[in-house]
Amino acid sequence: MTQALELKNVTVKYNRTCALSAVNLSAAENDFLAVIGPNGGGKSTLLKTILGIVTPVQGEIKIFGKNNSQYKEPIGYVPQFSSFRRAFPITVEDVVLSGRLKGGGRPFRRYEKNDYRISGDIMDKLQITQLRRKPVVRLSGGQLQKVLLARALAAEPRLLLLDEPTASLDSEAKNRIYEILKQINQHTTIILVTHDLAAISSYIKNIACLNKKLYYHGEPEISEDIIHKTFGCPVDLIAHGVPHRVLRSHGGDATC
Ligand SMILES: Nc1ncnc2c1ncn2[C@@H]1O[C@H](COP(=O)(O)OP(=O)(O)OP(=O)(O)O)[C@@H](O)[C@H]1O
Ligand SMILES: [Mg+2]
Repeated sequence: MTQALELKNVTVKYNRTCALSAVNLSAAENDFLAVIGPNGGGKSTLLKTILGIVTPVQGEIKIFGKNNSQYKEPIGYVPQFSSFRRAFPITVEDVVLSGRLKGGGRPFRRYEKNDYRISGDIMDKLQITQLRRKPVVRLSGGQLQKVLLARALAAEPRLLLLDEPTASLDSEAKNRIYEILKQINQHTTIILVTHDLAAISSYIKNIACLNKKLYYHGEPEISEDIIHKTFGCPVDLIAHGVPHRVLRSHGGDATC
């Protein structure tokens, strides 16, 4: 069966920094994969490499069976740090609607009724409809994060890549978003980078731990050993309602 996502032996370097070392990963259609790991472990790099923003020095990336550079369908992406030019005088509704501009091929096409309907539904679900006329420049950090998620969802992508999408959100908003993601996951493959494992353990289907190397991939049964290999530093972790604190020291760094 064609996998939604397949990485084979993917190595990424930034000049002399090795960010990903021979990563192998696959995600079936409608997987909900959480990627965890320490700061600098390569999580954002992994998503950027899947998107083709970063080019690996070796390896292969396939999305629904196609080389990632050949894959022309929309991929939903919410970056960790938005480079969104906040000074640009554009409203929340404009930003969400822009998610409907598939592939960015026709930026000046007029929106159709369907585009307004889909964007409107997503804004309702994320409870940002009341903000729709507001310039994005005046949004709070959490509001902007919801708007960027709404834009990603408006594209109705088959693959959704989320880089800490709930980092600035209050716990009620987080829960709402996880419920929305659960619904969307019925027909969308989701790769979610998060440090918020406690909140998501009942939503995700698989988990990968990344610290240059991808140490583990499978069902979210997280053993101390896996966490130790991945983090090698103090981590508070609550998996399946059982709090762990793992305090062992670092292993060696992966080399490219
Ligand atoms: N544009 C860049 N140029 C040079 N080095 C980079 C660049 N982006 C990332 N790096 C380096 O690559 C490594 C992986 O960074 P990355 O941002 O992928 O980590 P991360 O797992 O997303 O971390 P965090 O949890 O802090 O978001 C780090 O050592 C980082 O310093
Ligand atoms: Mg990151």
